[in-house]
This record gives sequence, structure tokens and C-alpha cells, in this order.
Amino acid sequence: MSTTTDLAALPEAAPSVTASSETVTATASPLAERYGPDQSVPLAPLTDAIDGILRHRTVRAYLTDPLDEVVLPTLVAAAQSAPTSSNMQFWSVVAVTDLARKDRLAALAGGQEHVRQAPLLLVWVADLARARAIGDAHGTSLEGTDYLDSTVVAFVDAALAAQNAVVAAESLGLGTVYIGALRHHPEQVAAELGLPEGTVAVVGLVVGHPDPAGGERVKPRLPQAAVLHHETYDLAVQWPYVDAYEDLIAPFYREEGLAESWRRRVVDRLAVPGPQRGHAHLHTALAARGLPSR
Ligand SMILES: Cc1cc2nc3c(=O)[nH]c(=O)nc-3n(C[C@H](O)[C@H](O)[C@H](O)COP(=O)(O)O)c2cc1C
Repeated sequence: MSTTTDLAALPEAAPSVTASSETVTATASPLAERYGPDQSVPLAPLTDAIDGILRHRTVRAYLTDPLDEVVLPTLVAAAQSAPTSSNMQFWSVVAVTDLARKDRLAALAGGQEHVRQAPLLLVWVADLARARAIGDAHGTSLEGTDYLDSTVVAFVDAALAAQNAVVAAESLGLGTVYIGALRHHPEQVAAELGLPEGTVAVVGLVVGHPDPAGGERVKPRLPQAAVLHHETYDLAVQWPYVDAYEDLIAPFYREEGLAESWRRRVVDRLAVPGPQRGHAHLHTALAARGLPSR
């Protein structure tokens, strides 16, 4: 069922890849971009779904062209097809197309231009309000929704839904970029979207037609040996692979004009709580939104 693809031997890109047998008949693999040309990865037949997922890249330059009207319901159907814990469906999504509202949300997200540029911003919401309203209708206060587990479930549900929408959008040739920066200002975002108590924005997702001049590339990831453990976890075994990743990602970051060391970026991002990002404030903000997360 699997075969080892020699990444170094593969051409750089394949327009489309389909697998009709148990061996990879592809002439190219996006894995060379994901892991660098020197690694061999045992690969199942490269289905359209796998190929599309492996080719993912975040898009930050968009045309202003509107989306076809079938796109939104298609993305929501994909999102709703994601697994959801106990079928509780603890999430909702707010579709924002209004220019003035996108402008204000872009400002709340630190002035990210792609929020303004692209025609659609989907805001994925952890939603305990619907369940509580059902409880109220039954004359029962849903105390369980006050606990951290419910908050975690709602965040996981919302993230799984959002990622299904990403996969669907990319399969339609559209681009996406998550907007985690909406967590800088949870209360203002909630006010902008009219979110009721018991809900909070988890992440935004810009959707649009990629500007062909954008030139996004597949961003390399850590070698599998750094993230994949067999039976039990081993931290120490990872370091040579993290070192190898430094060499792989450095040219990528250099071209983007960013600090070249991934390890340095990890340290710089997390050395302080990042109050400017609302991190220190998030626990309080969640409680204020009606997610006390006890
Ligand atoms: C939860 C989450 C929040 C993110 N927030 C932002 C953001 O606010 N702005 C942005 O430009 N990219 C954002 N991103 C995109 C990441 O920077 C991007 O996925 C990462 O650098 C890897 O690049 P790739 O998606 O092209 O592989 C976010 C991604 C995730 C998963």
C-alpha cells in the first residue's frame, strides 16, 4: 500500500496528480517542497485529496473579485462535515463581506491588509450559547458548559470546521489565510459581530482569489522524525532533526525578509506573554464572554 518516493528525483511541480493503483504514478510530489529535496517519505497513493492538502500554502495577496455565490454554502457544508465532539456542534461561523466591517476587523487584527482585500472573512466562533439556550428551554442550567473542557471542545470543534473549509476552498483554487490576531481583542470582535454571551471568536479565515503576483510557496515543515513518535514520546531524539530544519527554512525566511532561524522565532514569539497580542488578557476575556473555563 505504500511506496517510497525519492524526492530528489522528482521534478519541482506537477500540475495534477492522481493515483489509480497502489503505487504512486505521480511524476512529481509536493513533498519535496514540504520537507526539502533530500528526504524520502513513504507515501500512499497520491489521491487528489492528499495532493491538495500537501500543496497547502497560506495566501496573503488577493484580487478583489467577488466569490461565486455557491462558495460560501459549499465551505460551510465542508465545515459541518468535520467531526464534532459528541455531535454537540459547539461552533458557529460569521461570514463578513461588508467592506466597512472588514476594515474595522482588519484594524483589530493589527492592520492586516488581506482582510480588507479579499471578498470574504469567515469568523469561526466557539459557541456554548446555543447549548445553553436549549438548556434554558428545558428549564436546566447547563453547568457543564462553565468548565474548561467545554471551552476546549468548542475551540477544537471550531478549528476542525475551519480547516475543512480551508481544504475545500483550496480545492476550488481559492486562497485562504487564518487570522489568529482577532484574539488580540476578543471583546471588540464580539461587539463588531454581535456575538452573544457564551461565544467567542476563535480565529478568522480570509477567503478569496489569490493574486497571481503573490508568489506564495509551500512552507517547509520539521522533518517527520521530529514530530512523529512511535509508541512513546522522545524529546531528545528530535534535536538533529530540528537542526536540519534550520537549514531548510533559513532560505525561505530570508526571501521573506524575516529572521532566518526558526528556533529564534520560537523564542522571540514566546519569551514574553505578548500583552500586545492580548495573550495575558485572554483568560479574563473568555470569562467576560461567558466562558469561565473553570
Ligand atoms: C491559528 C492560526 C492563526 C494564524 N493567524 C495568522 C494571522 O493572524 N496572520 C497571518 O498572516 N497568518 C496567520 N496564520 C497563518 C500562519 O502564519 C501559517 O499557517 C504558517 O506560517 C505556515 O505557513 P503555511 O500555512 O503557508 O504553510 C495563522 C495560522 C493559524 C493556524
